[in-house]
Amino acid sequence: MEKVALVTGSSSGIGFETSLALARDGFYTFATMRDVSKGDKLMEISKKENLMIDIIELDVDKEDSIKNTVQNIMEKKQRIDLLVNNAGWGLWGSVEDVSVDEFKTQFETNFFAIIRMIQEVLPIMRKQNSGNIVNISSVAGRIGFPISPAYISSKFALEGLSESLRFELMPFGINVIIIEPGVIKTNFFEPIKLAKKAENTDVYKDITTKVISGVKMMAQMGTEPKVVADTIIQAIKEEIIR
Ligand SMILES: NC(=O)c1ccc[n+]([C@@H]2O[C@H](COP(=O)([O-])OP(=O)(O)OC[C@H]3O[C@@H](n4cnc5c(N)ncnc54)[C@H](OP(=O)(O)O)[C@@H]3O)[C@@H](O)[C@H]2O)c1
Repeated sequence: MEKVALVTGSSSGIGFETSLALARDGFYTFATMRDVSKGDKLMEISKKENLMIDIIELDVDKEDSIKNTVQNIMEKKQRIDLLVNNAGWGLWGSVEDVSVDEFKTQFETNFFAIIRMIQEVLPIMRKQNSGNIVNISSVAGRIGFPISPAYISSKFALEGLSESLRFELMPFGINVIIIEPGVIKTNFFEPIKLAKKAENTDVYKDITTKVISGVKMMAQMGTEPKVVADTIIQAIKEEIIR
């Protein structure tokens, strides 16, 4: 039976490579992005290789957008076998400098949106009695480091969510997988999104400059996103319980 995948944040980096890798592996892949004009390269490769990829608009911060996307997929394919929650971004700044509203904005995409995606897709997977949910966490979901507490907290929260969900969904034949990449060569660090207060204060300037230049340097020597995409496929195959 044809397997159907939904990937968020497919416009670049890990989401782009994962959409390609899944389609190459035989999945009918819905590669979603908030600005579909960024999908040209993916479409070009897809046509060249005769892959089954549909590019559709999805802004994971918007509930309506999530509902419409899932509805469109169900109208077209009547099933969803794999959800890859990949869309995310990083906010930089110390705990003192990141406002609570900024923390919330970071959590909106990296955490609450994932809950919305899962809640929308779960009734479908439960009915199928099968499915895989892959959440892209990070090494930052396991270890804290300075000047990115909002990002790190959002990934720690995602780890807790995923571990709880895994137990809840086992009886329904649905797997929950966490992927924890290290530093990957993507657009993630460009541009650096700094908390507003951090732009206008010098208190944490030294450490901020050091941390940001350090991660940018590591990113240049980082792992290719294709390695993460291949790891996702390997994890899904190892995790199949039926
Ligand atoms: N790069 C790393 O070193 C690294 C390490 C560990 C984990 N990760 C995680 O890997 C995931 C992918 O990041 P990446 O490294 O591939 O960076 P990237 O190239 O910047 O890709 C991020 C993707 O998320 C999308 N996105 C952001 N907000 C969105 C929203 N509201 N709705 C829909 N899409 C949205 C972006 O879309 P636009 O093009 O529209 O902005 C883009 O497609 C993230 O969850 C990140 O936390 C990255």
